[in-house]
Amino acid sequence: MQNLFADRIGGNQYGKSQAIYKFERIKRAKRATMALHPGGEIIDLGVGEPDEMAFPEVVKKLCSEAQMPENRGYADNGDAVLKQAAARYLERVCDVKGINPETEVLHSIGSKSALSLLPAALINPGDYVLMTIPGYPVFGTHAKYYGGAVYNLPLNETNHYLPKLNSVPADVLRKTKALVLNYPNNPTGATATREFFGEVVAFAKQHKLAVIHDAAYAALVFSGKPLSFLATPGAKEVGVELHSASKSFNMTGWRCGFVAGNELLVKAYGDIKDNSDSGQFLAIQHAVAYGLDHPEITVSIADKYSRRMNGLVEVLNKAGFNAKKPKGSFFLYVKAPRAAIKADGKRVEFKSAEEVSQWLITEKLISTVPWDDAGAYLRFSVTFVVKNFADENRVLGEIEQRLSDVKFEF
Ligand SMILES: Cc1ncc(COP(=O)(O)O)c(C=O)c1O
Repeated sequence: MQNLFADRIGGNQYGKSQAIYKFERIKRAKRATMALHPGGEIIDLGVGEPDEMAFPEVVKKLCSEAQMPENRGYADNGDAVLKQAAARYLERVCDVKGINPETEVLHSIGSKSALSLLPAALINPGDYVLMTIPGYPVFGTHAKYYGGAVYNLPLNETNHYLPKLNSVPADVLRKTKALVLNYPNNPTGATATREFFGEVVAFAKQHKLAVIHDAAYAALVFSGKPLSFLATPGAKEVGVELHSASKSFNMTGWRCGFVAGNELLVKAYGDIKDNSDSGQFLAIQHAVAYGLDHPEITVSIADKYSRRMNGLVEVLNKAGFNAKKPKGSFFLYVKAPRAAIKADGKRVEFKSAEEVSQWLITEKLISTVPWDDAGAYLRFSVTFVVKNFADENRVLGEIEQRLSDVKFEF
């Protein structure tokens, strides 16, 4: 078997690497800490998915739809129900007018799946894709599988975590087929602006490239309406937007979302998809359609994250961090300290966010996700699991208490 593997996954060296990846290192540190502190409570601020179930009315809709014989078979590229609900949702929630549900929307088995399929429609060997870092790498990984290359655009605080489009070298731009964006952003929590999206459309037209806007956190905003890339004049000529029920409706395990926008790119996505999967169960698609027609569900989820975010920002700032509440998502991205001085005066120096994250797990039983791609930052997620509202305050108080005997240096 060993000699059969493709080069893209390591060829005959596949599986032999001793490298341990970030999330595995976090898991191992948590396991080791629990072994040292049996019965201790790890406060998990590293989780990238909702802490609660889908709303009961959505679950009820799934149950009734699952009993309908006409929903039992292969869904292929879907029926009209989700497509129409998606077009209504884009208009009502995101002020995107004129999306044709027949030709400009297609469901996905989650945004991750769509991001893994779209490169097949766009990337030939030697083509470039512009990806933001830190970020969600799936499109770039698959682009590389097809012989493409990734050019990374760093997201820095000084530019409000928006990429500097004019920093891409001309020789890269000539070979670039796609720009992948994600706002509200994982992990920075940053949101885009209308002006930035306007620049993106002009950039895409000038350099003849497709825009893939991953809007997995689109509806999780803390004030006002979600900002859709598709609301930008000309956006439909250059790109598509990916929406997902995972985070907006607490439906990560259900695996459903949709791709909307440029008709030809939606069609190409459909062709690739048709040759890759047989569609998400129609009962799930119909339950998601029900959710899209009830955007107040997302509003109440976002309200919860907003409330928790206020609490976490306060607690972290008391501990010396410089935390600023983002406008959306459930991620709080803060600069990692360079050193910590404990109550006994002992000073610990950190060379990376990774080291801070490991230290927080082992010393304080607090789990975060470190990012060292563009500066050293920690991602705190407000999706920690609690029993009720009182427990939420208890957890926030516990974080404050655990950090109270440390002085961080930045
Ligand atoms: C930026 C981003 N895009 C896409 C996804 C995947 O979403 P889905 O559950 O719709 O596949 C995630 C999940 O963490 C994400 O953070």
